[in-house]
Amino acid sequence: MFVFKAAVVGAGVMGGEIAQVIAAAGVPVVLKDVDQQFVDTGLEKAREVSASQAAKLVVKGKLTQEQGDAQVQGILGNITGTTDYAGFGDVDFVIEAVPEKMAMKHEVFADLDAVTPGHAILASNTSGLSITEIADATQRPDKVVGFHFFWPASSMRVIEVIEGDATSPETTQAASTFAQQIRKLAIRAAECPGFVVNRILVSTASEIWRYQDETGVPVEAIDEFIREHAQMPMGPFRVADMSGLDTVVKVARDLRDAYGDRFYVHQGMEERVGRGELGAKSGKGFYEHR
Ligand SMILES: NC(=O)c1ccc[n+]([C@@H]2O[C@H](COP(=O)([O-])OP(=O)(O)OC[C@H]3O[C@@H](n4cnc5c(N)ncnc54)[C@H](O)[C@@H]3O)[C@@H](O)[C@H]2O)c1
Repeated sequence: MFVFKAAVVGAGVMGGEIAQVIAAAGVPVVLKDVDQQFVDTGLEKAREVSASQAAKLVVKGKLTQEQGDAQVQGILGNITGTTDYAGFGDVDFVIEAVPEKMAMKHEVFADLDAVTPGHAILASNTSGLSITEIADATQRPDKVVGFHFFWPASSMRVIEVIEGDATSPETTQAASTFAQQIRKLAIRAAECPGFVVNRILVSTASEIWRYQDETGVPVEAIDEFIREHAQMPMGPFRVADMSGLDTVVKVARDLRDAYGDRFYVHQGMEERVGRGELGAKSGKGFYEHR
């Protein structure tokens, strides 16, 4: 199935950039959130990413400044922001990117089942919730699939494609093909909490979080050490800030509930979430963000 038009539900940390990836591949995309302010933030993220990509090509001499500007305008012209489902009547592929809570996913999937054409594939960007359970909210569980991007969606190449119990082989194939259409690499992952990548990454992060809680070593020192010695672009506390501390805590709790104490929920992170300090998206987390 070729995707002529797509939609993204939720314009937060992930949604705005996912819409940018789709639009940059030449596919028109509707970006929905519950409030115009959130839609605008998502559109601004898409603009920033597009401008940064174009600027790099200009510096390399692959585009003139005018061509770079036209590229940015072309990408943004493919994205339509909305706070309702008006533009969903002719979409082929929808990616849900609302918070990691089953009740919210169910509400959105029931809505999507009602407003999208019968052939449309309904995908979730969930970090680890059950695709089978998400699909229960629809009359088309065969067309529900996990489609898991990683932060930052514009530069991380891999998408995990996850089948629920009822997902049809045609849907899995169509999702993998769409991943290629938007220039990503699809990998098939089993339906288990955390799928493949988060199961590995959060397991490693858990030990670092546990060590920090136990020793009180400053998070800045740990981040700096890991950035230098593991040659990673960012340490784990800054990555958590950029991803959203509420999302990271929820994912860590789900993994601990599923697999036991080898997964860990960082106490300092939980406390920050309790105070509304969610990282970059709220302006403050372990670090201050402009
Ligand atoms: N943050 C990450 O690093 C990351 C990485 C991969 C996957 N994910 C997953 O992606 C999903 C979204 O995460 P996020 O970090 O972007 O969350 P977020 O909290 O930054 O954004 C969620 C957005 O969804 C909106 N929303 C809520 N209900 C809605 C509705 N009914 N219709 C439209 N919009 C609605 C909210 O207003 C908010 O803007 C989660 O399932 C998360 O686990 C997150």
